[in-house]
Amino acid sequence: MIVARDGVLFIGNFRAEELALEFGTPLYVYDREVMVENYVRLRTAVRYSNTEILYSCKANSNAEILKVFRELGAGLDAVSPWEVLLGVKVGFEPRNILFTGNNVSEDELRFVKDLGAMVNIDSIQQLRRYGRLYPGTEVSVRINPGFGVGHHQKVVTGGASKFGVPLSQVKELLEVARNYDLKIVGLHAHLGSGILSPEPIVTVARTLLQLILSTGLTDVEFVDVGGGLGIPYREDEKPLDVEVLGSELTKLFEEFSERYGRRVRLVLEPGRYLVGNAGVLLTKVVDIKEIPLDGGGRKVFVGTDTGMNHLIRPALYDAYHRVVPVGKVGAEARILADVVGNICESGDVLAKDRLLPELKEEDILAIMDVGAYGYSMTSNYNLRPRPAEVMVFGSEVKLIRRRETFEDLVRTMTGLSI
Ligand code: LLP
Repeated sequence: MIVARDGVLFIGNFRAEELALEFGTPLYVYDREVMVENYVRLRTAVRYSNTEILYSCKANSNAEILKVFRELGAGLDAVSPWEVLLGVKVGFEPRNILFTGNNVSEDELRFVKDLGAMVNIDSIQQLRRYGRLYPGTEVSVRINPGFGVGHHQKVVTGGASKFGVPLSQVKELLEVARNYDLKIVGLHAHLGSGILSPEPIVTVARTLLQLILSTGLTDVEFVDVGGGLGIPYREDEKPLDVEVLGSELTKLFEEFSERYGRRVRLVLEPGRYLVGNAGVLLTKVVDIKEIPLDGGGRKVFVGTDTGMNHLIRPALYDAYHRVVPVGKVGAEARILADVVGNICESGDVLAKDRLLPELKEEDILAIMDVGAYGYSMTSNYNLRPRPAEVMVFGSEVKLIRRRETFEDLVRTMTGLSI
């Protein structure tokens, strides 16, 4: 549980401040219990009996996090050969890994196929290549349903984007499949990321099921309606109603199964929904700068020991993350400030125009809801090491990735001997 008690932020049974002291800052902290709760809430909301959840590990690919979902019975949504390999190494059955690549090279395709993952094809050209290499085998296809949604234009994948086979080209797709004797066992679509209402996901499910009936596909075993399930980041946002989503999908799949004569598997592949609110980034205030504004007033910059290299979502998508001073949660707001990082770009802003209590150097801040697309999008920009990651399980805490060192930063350079 990540909660404030008496003005102090707790992660499991630990005070956030205590963790910052023990492991140093910046530090990613995850609460295992929150991930389990998220998974169980979603899993139980979908009562259709043949349902599978694939953890979309691009959201957070730490091996210990993959293990949490493997132990819960999830499969894996992987988008690169390396995600597939990691999944195999942490013990996912290859047949429970769906590889949804985009612009996949032939070498990559062979690699993934050799590992035994199910391949989800992104284009007609890719299907041709697949058919040439593996005629007579099973395959899944990503459909672009012609519409998409998302918290930012950069994460909308349905509609006019590079992803999937458009509905208007399905006829040609089926011809290619027939030519190579391929068995289409899966249909897939993913609309985008950060969806806070059930309707678009239900609509895309309906589109895919109708497509099966209208094309006369007879071998379909699973229908993957994608991920993209959103979480509330702002104080005033409402969570996605997974009960409604679950019951609508259940209704649709029950009806369809009866018509189709087979209980096709309903697949969901969320990343953010499972891990987003399970992670915080702890950072230390290292500088506080006030600048006078023309025409009066002041602007406060709260400078931290992290930055856009460790959390790029605000810079890339204008994403909002709550910022909590871990020792004085809920204290009276006294300053209006931008929380900024230590990277040499003025766009290095983690939080803009926030009302915060009076802060001082050495105070610890928690940037909230960064379990998804936080660490997984970090970089070494400005030649800075990535933070450590720890996982809390009630009253236990485990280092799940050490902090990088200077040696890590230069390891792959050839012009230096260290
Ligand atoms: N399946 C496919 C095919 C995807 O492309 C994605 C995300 C997912 C599943 C999982 O989406 P989720 O359930 O986590 O929303 N970096 C952005 C998000 C990019 C998502 C890319 N694809 C962000 O920080 O908001």
